[in-house]
Amino acid sequence: MEKDFVKWFSGKTALVTGATSGIGREMAKLLAGRGCRILALGRDKESMNSLLKELNANSRLLSEGFLVDLADKDARRKLIKKISKNYEIDILINNAGFGYIGDFYLMAEDLADAMREVNINTVVDFCREFLPKMMKKRQGGILNVGSTASFFGTPGSSLYGATKHFILGFTDGLHQEALSSGVHVAGVYPGHTHSRFVERATAGKTKNWHKAMSSVLVAELAIQGLSQNKIRIIPGFYNKMLFWAAKALPISFILKELRAKFVRNHA
Ligand SMILES: NC(=O)c1ccc[n+]([C@@H]2O[C@H](COP(=O)([O-])OP(=O)(O)OC[C@H]3O[C@@H](n4cnc5c(N)ncnc54)[C@H](OP(=O)(O)O)[C@@H]3O)[C@@H](O)[C@H]2O)c1
Repeated sequence: MEKDFVKWFSGKTALVTGATSGIGREMAKLLAGRGCRILALGRDKESMNSLLKELNANSRLLSEGFLVDLADKDARRKLIKKISKNYEIDILINNAGFGYIGDFYLMAEDLADAMREVNINTVVDFCREFLPKMMKKRQGGILNVGSTASFFGTPGSSLYGATKHFILGFTDGLHQEALSSGVHVAGVYPGHTHSRFVERATAGKTKNWHKAMSSVLVAELAIQGLSQNKIRIIPGFYNKMLFWAAKALPISFILKELRAKFVRNHA
């Protein structure tokens, strides 16, 4: 298994969005360790420089970084065309994303716009550019990062949850469309994970989740699941339980519990 895992990644070019922090950064490091050249996307120049230094210290393939605000549709599409013209992408990791913890009626319009651009439209744009090329070559892989919020409505994070519902529906569909071509399309659905996510989603009010999985473990399970062409990768027992609870329990009960948890932790 381990040998096949290494073979699937070795010598490939992997594009990772949101590679400068958290889960994306760990996935970039892991893929580089499996022999991939990384094209890393992010906004933070310092984090990008330190990542590239780390990636290129031990690799014969030179990884590169691209600074872009993915919420800026024109800048994003320009970069996609530039990358598409100059590189063959074997593996696409659609990881960049951000949350907002608070009721929707309080959310600023520009933040809501940016969230749909980054969490939804960016994923669509990258898939639209690179999936046809992979299908033509009959090889490659795409991993889209969802969330346990993909499984049920999340009062206190409604728009974020809805963007992650999109990931589930889109990725499931693409998985089946690509299946006969040999291209892998998988979704990973993490729950609370240590990263900068919650600090950003609460504008600094909550520094980190009380209980969370490590970004390294989530990244490992995600990358392994992609190589095995799993449809849905759900890291951790608790998160798997949430998935089954969403199917088994009445939605009114789930929403009431989630609302109570939001009020306890964030209101
Ligand atoms: N952590 C959790 O509890 C959790 C749970 C479920 C799902 N997720 C999902 O996991 C993915 C990764 O998040 P994370 O937890 O690793 O959080 P993180 O540490 O905040 O990392 C987010 C990454 O996305 C990039 N990004 C965000 N907005 C961007 C924009 N407008 N333009 C370009 N890049 C942008 C960030 O780049 P810069 O830092 O350079 O700005 C960073 O590299 C997200 O899709 C998130 O929804 C996280």
